[in-house]
Amino acid sequence: MNSNVTNADWQKAWSGRFEKKNTPLMERFNASISIDIRLWWADIQVNFAWAKALVKTGVLTGKELEFIQNGLQQIQQEFETDTFQITPSDEDIHMAIERRLTELIGEAGAKIHTGRSRNDQVVTDVRLYLKRKLGELQKLTRQFQQALVESAQNYRQLIMPGYTHLQPAQAILFSHYLLSLFYALERDQNRFRDLLPRLDILPLGAGALAGSAFAIDRNLLANELGFQKISENSIDAISDRDFMLEFIYILAQIQVHLSRYAEDLIIWSSAEFGFVELDDAWSTGSSMMPQKKNPDSLELIRGKTARVLGLQNQLFVLLKGLPLTYSKDLQEDKAAIFATIDIVADSLQVFTGVIESLKVNEGRMKARLDSALFATDLADYLVKKGIPFRKSHHLVGQVVRWGIENHCPIDKIPFEVYEQISPVFERSLYEIFDWKHSIEVRDLPGGTGFNSVKQQIEKAKRLLEES
Ligand code: ARG
Repeated sequence: MNSNVTNADWQKAWSGRFEKKNTPLMERFNASISIDIRLWWADIQVNFAWAKALVKTGVLTGKELEFIQNGLQQIQQEFETDTFQITPSDEDIHMAIERRLTELIGEAGAKIHTGRSRNDQVVTDVRLYLKRKLGELQKLTRQFQQALVESAQNYRQLIMPGYTHLQPAQAILFSHYLLSLFYALERDQNRFRDLLPRLDILPLGAGALAGSAFAIDRNLLANELGFQKISENSIDAISDRDFMLEFIYILAQIQVHLSRYAEDLIIWSSAEFGFVELDDAWSTGSSMMPQKKNPDSLELIRGKTARVLGLQNQLFVLLKGLPLTYSKDLQEDKAAIFATIDIVADSLQVFTGVIESLKVNEGRMKARLDSALFATDLADYLVKKGIPFRKSHHLVGQVVRWGIENHCPIDKIPFEVYEQISPVFERSLYEIFDWKHSIEVRDLPGGTGFNSVKQQIEKAKRLLEES
């Protein structure tokens, strides 16, 4: 290497073939450092491991390895203390670290890129980074699930109207509702666990596309970097972004879960419902209307979901029709997945805070329990007296219609009217107009019954403990 290598006015690593420099616009257009800087930790780990592997092949001496290790340690420190200087020639994080290493230790640094390409380096970095992020996101999801279980325990007996088509449908326990989100998120947890073995594969050694010409011990690399397996085919290793698609799908799925529940709570926090009130810490006011307290935290979760779905789509479209193996298009993959991770991590924490501090207006929930919600129970009552369900459904429909026409809730309709609609009705029918009864009868596993919900809570706690 000539002295240019350590010159502050460092040429681009690939500039040998070029007569002219890039225009400043091209330089900016080409650079990904502002996005992939967050791979610094992973890139340093990959460099440590790669240097060790190069010693085994005889490319580096033990002394050179020592220089490299010291240099990398210093670079790591610079990142940790926020003192790492990015220069205009640093196209991406890989070039920046190699440039700095060579600056620090000279020739040995200029040997680090032997037998590898940024193509295998970048996917290795991303896999390493995503493994870490997967663990963090699992933890954030766990914390949210924890908050949901705690809240479900606090409101175990609270009865509220449940909705289909956003129309009052049947009475449910508020705890049952909260646990529904717990179990939806549990599926996302399973998706994370399921993805891990496909994420945990080392591509390094695949080179630019054909594999390294140096006898690199890839199993040693995998061991050093904590990967379970090595990739089987270098072409696939370079081109494959399935692990990113799967990852972003899981995140989009979580975000859509959050968005739907956000929507419910937004509706329930309106004056018209008044079931819940968000804590001030998670709400904002209006610049014009002094009386307003808006559920912005939840609205933003819902709003940012649009972005997440756009990013997921971006990643799919990026890959469609892209020739194998590497094209620079792939540089755009990281912007999509990183932004998604940030949004979902924030959203999980915001929703956790909202749930932990949510004020629940039990009185309003009870007040909205309209006796029409007993209609199914009434039909079931006739079924138990031997009437086929389709017929009992029709008879109760007539009861409901009589109530509407006569402005009378179904639990206040006189027995004579019931008798006229069907002689099967007995005075005992009025016993079903009891909210506790309506809950209790749905005590089968998975139902809203008190015992069922108790079991759901116990199971949820076991799942939290096991994880
Ligand atoms: N910054 C690039 C990326 O993120 C690294 C790989 C560059 N490879 C190449 N052949 N130019 O994809």
